[in-house]
Amino acid sequence: MKQSELMTPAVICNLDALEGNLKRYHEAAKANGKELWPMIKTHKSTEVARMQVAAGATGFLCGNLEEAEAVSYLGKKVMLAYPVASKENIAKAIEIAKKCDFYLRLDGVEAAAMIDAQAKEAGIVMKYTLIINAGLDRFGVKPEDAVDMAKKLAEFKNLKFMGISTHPGQVYAAKSAAEVPAYIEQEYNVIKTAVDSLKAAGFTCEIVSTGSTPTFWGTIHNEYVNVLHPGNYVFHDTIQMSIDVAKEEECAVYIYATVISHPQKDLYICDAGTKCFALDQGAHGNDSIKGYGTIKGHPELTMYALSEEVGKMHADGPTTLKVGDKIEVIPNHSCPTFNNTSYAIGVRGGEVERIIHVDFRENSTFKGIR
Ligand SMILES: Cc1ncc(COP(=O)(O)O)c(C=O)c1O
Repeated sequence: MKQSELMTPAVICNLDALEGNLKRYHEAAKANGKELWPMIKTHKSTEVARMQVAAGATGFLCGNLEEAEAVSYLGKKVMLAYPVASKENIAKAIEIAKKCDFYLRLDGVEAAAMIDAQAKEAGIVMKYTLIINAGLDRFGVKPEDAVDMAKKLAEFKNLKFMGISTHPGQVYAAKSAAEVPAYIEQEYNVIKTAVDSLKAAGFTCEIVSTGSTPTFWGTIHNEYVNVLHPGNYVFHDTIQMSIDVAKEEECAVYIYATVISHPQKDLYICDAGTKCFALDQGAHGNDSIKGYGTIKGHPELTMYALSEEVGKMHADGPTTLKVGDKIEVIPNHSCPTFNNTSYAIGVRGGEVERIIHVDFRENSTFKGIR
């Protein structure tokens, strides 16, 4: 079956682009002596996780426990990106730690005390990395406070310090490729301060992990880091294109849609809206992103407004577009696009090849109330 014979809207995954992205990033990580544990919240798909393992992933970074549980069967290391701090979630984390080589991340004594108490009861020692704030100002202690926090956490006998983790997500405030190196330098300095001071205080950092897609190509040379966690690299999107991290042909996910109305001069409407694209325009207000996606082959069009099922496109000047035309739109952010669907259609050279199931979105599969 050809892509052109599909009903619209459809979430498409260009398999050549996906495989090319996997090959490029994983080979580069290996060539530079780094492990790549991808952040899998991007795809939430066992099939894509297996492709990552085939490409060389030695672990996974997970956005939540559902993701961690799903990949705990794949025989690789599993790390949860954020702390857990409820009896129920700690119990699940302990259950996962009994099944695979599992790592938590911590940044404070409150959650640590709760986890330590439950781990003691379960007769298990939970491994963790200390989260260092690399400038995103979300989780983590400041690098100069790493030793102080590591000492406090060392009091908990059912927790084992394994090193540090961070995420330079503030890089998404960059408006061009020229601005990215400053974030890589900031990440380097933060990690250096934390690791050097921890080492001097007698702590061994077996794991020094960090990552994002835009900083990947710089941080791959960071001698302190041994594990990288890009996530979006598998698909890329308009946000990555806006900072020259990806070219259009390296964006693996797009929405296939039909132009269904041309009600006013310069206004065209397609049959895909927020349920395909989401409303993301860049997490940090990147104003180089215009509208809600890149309409391939139509630089004159801007997807300037969305409702749930339809998108409004403005034509700036002449356009060949007409009602009935099919368009391919690269979303601003491919992660919510994948989270909005239970499958993507894998296409190669215009032909449908296979379905990629998005099988571990949270609450997508009822496994009993938990
Ligand atoms: C903690 C953490 N690590 C890694 C990543 C992956 O970053 P990116 O999607 O830029 O590759 C994310 C993404 O949000 C994250 O939250």
